[in-house]
Amino acid sequence: MTDLRALETELLAAAAAAKDEAALEAVRVAALGRNGSVSALLKTLGTMTPEARKEQGPLINSLKDRLSAAIAARKDALRGLALEQRLNTETVDVTLPVREPPAEIGRVHPISQVVDELTAIFADMGFAVAEGPDIETDDYNFTKLNFPESHPARDMHDTFYFNPKPDGSRLLLRTHTSPVQIRTMLAQKPPIRVIIPGRTYRSDSDQTHTPMFHQLEGLVIDKGSHLGHLKWILQEFCKAFFEVDQVKMRFRPSFFPFTEPSLELDIQCQRDKGEIRFGEGEDWMEILGCGMVHPNVLRNCGLDPDEYQGFAWGLGMDRIAMLKYGMPDLRPFFEADVRWLAHYGFRPLDFPTLAGGLSN
Ligand code: DAH
Repeated sequence: MTDLRALETELLAAAAAAKDEAALEAVRVAALGRNGSVSALLKTLGTMTPEARKEQGPLINSLKDRLSAAIAARKDALRGLALEQRLNTETVDVTLPVREPPAEIGRVHPISQVVDELTAIFADMGFAVAEGPDIETDDYNFTKLNFPESHPARDMHDTFYFNPKPDGSRLLLRTHTSPVQIRTMLAQKPPIRVIIPGRTYRSDSDQTHTPMFHQLEGLVIDKGSHLGHLKWILQEFCKAFFEVDQVKMRFRPSFFPFTEPSLELDIQCQRDKGEIRFGEGEDWMEILGCGMVHPNVLRNCGLDPDEYQGFAWGLGMDRIAMLKYGMPDLRPFFEADVRWLAHYGFRPLDFPTLAGGLSN
């Protein structure tokens, strides 16, 4: 007959000595597991006489209960100990300054921000975004846009040419985003409603001109599009972009070879000690060129001007970024100075939306 007392003492001592949960589990399996010593004792009950079972049963079962309770208590103690050890090693000094994660330190360039703002505004009106290459053909940059060869209007677009090809034609860096109007009309059937943000180039450099700059073109072609639509779109754009409730606008006649009539849009503003405010004041600021697409341009793209008509506009994105965000000089836009970017840049996770606010 097993000495229950000795067995209990031995098992309780083993449980108390277990250094971690794994060791304790080994003690439990050795005693209470399927082939454990206490389980083996319980199995002997079946072979005993009823009298012996009546005496041994409660003894063995109470041993099992006491052992189970001791193991559970030891387990709790070991857990508490392990937690305490972790807490002692994993300390956090809450007085240290917080190091900003990269997504918080990085800043979005004002031009990228303005592209996102303009995209949000015009996408809300149903415009898609179209793009074209920076390196263009003379045909798309000028001829198809109704600039005849050697027309003086080409002089305003002095640009960078590549070496002539054997056939005499020369590629160039596009002087405006307008060639993408041609590409879009050649590739898509009306109705067309696109905006075209992109880089443009002219050989020019001073405080407000850089050899590379950015434009945003707009193009709408449909059967019944007219100047009234253009006016409304530009008015809604100005209010949304400058984040004001109303703007006074003024259209002046102008000339572009690819539009007829051609107009320039001025918006009302107030100039005060070098600061400009929109939506008030008596001064005017020119912000873009626009007009009805010239019938020759439609024809050059295979569209019948008796069936389709439309309008377009082009604006300098650097210029409206400078106006909106009060940046006096254009050149730092392209100097990649992180101090300038830290000051004028935008937080990357604050993506502009009409509902959530464009620039806050
Ligand atoms: N492409 C013109 C420029 O760079 C701007 C422009 C004016 C674009 C009138 C247009 C427009 O689409 O209709 O000077």
